[in-house]
Amino acid sequence: MEDELLIFCDHLFKKYPGTDWVFKDASLTIFRNQFLFLLGSSGSGKTTFIKIISGQEDYDRGKIIIQNNDFRKLKRKNLHLWRRSLGIVFQDFRLLWKQTVKENIALPLIILGCSKNEIDMRVKAVLKLVQLEDKEDVVCKYLSGGEQQRVAIGRAIVHSPVLLLADEPTGNLDDKHTKNILELFYTLHARGISILIATHDKRLPIAIPDCRTVMIKDKRFIDVIPVPKSRTS
Ligand SMILES: Nc1ncnc2c1ncn2[C@@H]1O[C@H](COP(=O)(O)OP(=O)(O)OP(=O)(O)O)[C@@H](O)[C@H]1O
Ligand SMILES: [Mg+2]
Repeated sequence: MEDELLIFCDHLFKKYPGTDWVFKDASLTIFRNQFLFLLGSSGSGKTTFIKIISGQEDYDRGKIIIQNNDFRKLKRKNLHLWRRSLGIVFQDFRLLWKQTVKENIALPLIILGCSKNEIDMRVKAVLKLVQLEDKEDVVCKYLSGGEQQRVAIGRAIVHSPVLLLADEPTGNLDDKHTKNILELFYTLHARGISILIATHDKRLPIAIPDCRTVMIKDKRFIDVIPVPKSRTS
């Protein structure tokens, strides 16, 4: 079976007013069911790329095809459906700070109009996955940075997105929790969720077998071919 195209960026150009190009003639094809790491140094454009493909930021030139549709020509309804099919872990979390862990994680399901029973069931399962069962009634502003990060991840996956976009999802975690979160992403991927993790941490792809690594370099996307283990040891 042919791989299903999820996102095709064709000769993308992006700059912010008054800045240099962030992307200049950058092309990238993402297929469904990929586990993709987007590597790049600080300021290389990782967050910008996530914002562009989730419709939060515009681009200057080039073409983006999302599920076989030209992104620019998506009708409001289809853009809405595309956004609903995404789970986004924001670099700055964007939690409701005065609300509890449970309320934050439930939010996407409330927006989708799910029943109370379904919300309870899904939130409970996610709390277990992100290991926050004992914190479900704690107000988010009282959580540690790593716990807040796990709430952000929980909220991004609770509606079973088609594609999870995670922006530095392990930036505030120690090695143990980083390993747990990568294992969680690996499990989600095995359940059929496509994953894109933006990070500057070159060590992360090592933990995921058969992942794809793309680096932002010189304002373009470059596939990184893994070096066989025998040559690195
Ligand atoms: N709203 C904005 N207005 C102007 N310039 C911006 C804006 N957002 C980002 N930039 C610039 O665009 C470039 C890419 O930023 P971006 O946040 O995408 O990088 P990043 O790879 O996510 O970095 P980090 O690893 O530090 O999060 C940077 O030079 C940044 O200063
Ligand atoms: Mg960023």
